[in-house]
Amino acid sequence: MKIIAFGASTSKKSINKALAQFTATLVPGAEIEVLDLRDYDLPIFNTDLEQEIGLPPAARAFFDKIGSAEGVIVSFAEHNGSYSAAYKNLFDWASRIDQKVYQNKPAVFLSTSPGPGGAGSVLASAKGSAGFFGADLRAAVSVPSFHDVFDAATGHITEKDALKDLTAAAEALALQEVA
Ligand SMILES: Cc1cc2nc3c(=O)[nH]c(=O)nc-3n(C[C@H](O)[C@H](O)[C@H](O)COP(=O)(O)O)c2cc1C
Repeated sequence: MKIIAFGASTSKKSINKALAQFTATLVPGAEIEVLDLRDYDLPIFNTDLEQEIGLPPAARAFFDKIGSAEGVIVSFAEHNGSYSAAYKNLFDWASRIDQKVYQNKPAVFLSTSPGPGGAGSVLASAKGSAGFFGADLRAAVSVPSFHDVFDAATGHITEKDALKDLTAAAEALALQEVA
């Protein structure tokens, strides 16, 4: 099962990227491709610019990566209660191809932060709009206090409850729909 995983962040040491990457390893039979949103640099979207330059290749490349997957794992960074500006901008550009950016792919949405809130606000937003944007959302998990539950040396989540929730989410992603 081809899995695309990414952190919705452009931080070099994104904890959300690390969480998405780790969770992908829990998907049975996964062939994993981890995206780095720094590879999808785009000008700030506005419709005037869009008329002028059309669709930038980076937006098409991101959209096509999702299209190439059999499952998608996104972990959302929370900036002031919402999406990082970089993710939102990339998403806005990609939505000009098709508003269903997630292209009806099975998806797991995650979030984490260093604090006890676990970026729960942005995860709630992403969950609430998942269907609208074509995500077949199988599970959503917020992981609070990332640095307390993640072993940077191994790249593994070590805390029991978080690991249990992430494992269940990864398994839900791999479940085939019964027609
Ligand atoms: C501008 C800014 C706003 C932030 N706002 C929040 C917030 O609302 N809630 C939260 O839990 N963390 C917030 N943080 C802390 C982030 O959770 C933290 O930087 C985290 O590492 C971001 O994820 P990333 O490492 O994947 O980029 C904020 C950080 C920045 C730089």
